[in-house]
Amino acid sequence: MKYLVTSMKGGVGKSSISVNLSAHTGSQYITNDITPPAIEDFIQIPLNKKKIPADLAQLENAVFDLGALSTLLDTKIAHAARFCDVIIIPTRTDSRSIAATLKTYELLQDAGKPIVIIINHFRDQKKHEAARDQLLSAVGRTPIYSIRETTLFDRISRDGIAWLLNIQNTKGLYMLQKTVQKHNAVYDRITAIGERGK
Ligand SMILES: Nc1ncnc2c1ncn2[C@@H]1O[C@H](COP(=O)(O)OP(=O)(O)O)[C@@H](O)[C@H]1O
Ligand SMILES: [Mg+2]
Repeated sequence: MKYLVTSMKGGVGKSSISVNLSAHTGSQYITNDITPPAIEDFIQIPLNKKKIPADLAQLENAVFDLGALSTLLDTKIAHAARFCDVIIIPTRTDSRSIAATLKTYELLQDAGKPIVIIINHFRDQKKHEAARDQLLSAVGRTPIYSIRETTLFDRISRDGIAWLLNIQNTKGLYMLQKTVQKHNAVYDRITAIGERGK
């Protein structure tokens, strides 16, 4: 399965979600970010490359975490959209994020790939509902998932992905384990959508 995680907006959770998704699915993590997340096994694509290098595009299982450059979609994003099985656009609930999400959606629609949106990093359920309503009215039947504000992402950036893969269901970690399960359920549903589109 090849996943493209992208948005024209920074700070919406592309990298956090991509790192977790790649760990859960055993996929190679690949990014165009100049400061990749602190994980052991990342591949960084240089900014000056117009396309995703062929050896990476041909990987069986990969998560492409591709940020946009200013208001233009990096040409690598359009390229990845052509060969990835499913496109994931994370968003926050504020109006600038929603606008950027809809713009990203519009630009990537031509690729003809299934697109899913993840409303990410929210605390307020009302803001979540408002964002969801706004998205639904614009993108109709597009699947929309939710990942609320979680300390899990901080733990992973601090303690590394090895920690995530090794956490046990012990008392102190019970809540985090539940969060991991919820996130993984989202990733599994997205994977199923990608499989159907193949
Ligand atoms: N669901 C979440 N809960 C808590 N913090 C989050 C969540 N998603 C992202 N963050 C935090 O927000 C910041 C931006 O996330 P990041 O994944 O780097 O976004 P992007 O890759 O889109 O720029 C990071 O500090 C990250 O830890
Ligand atoms: Mg990032």
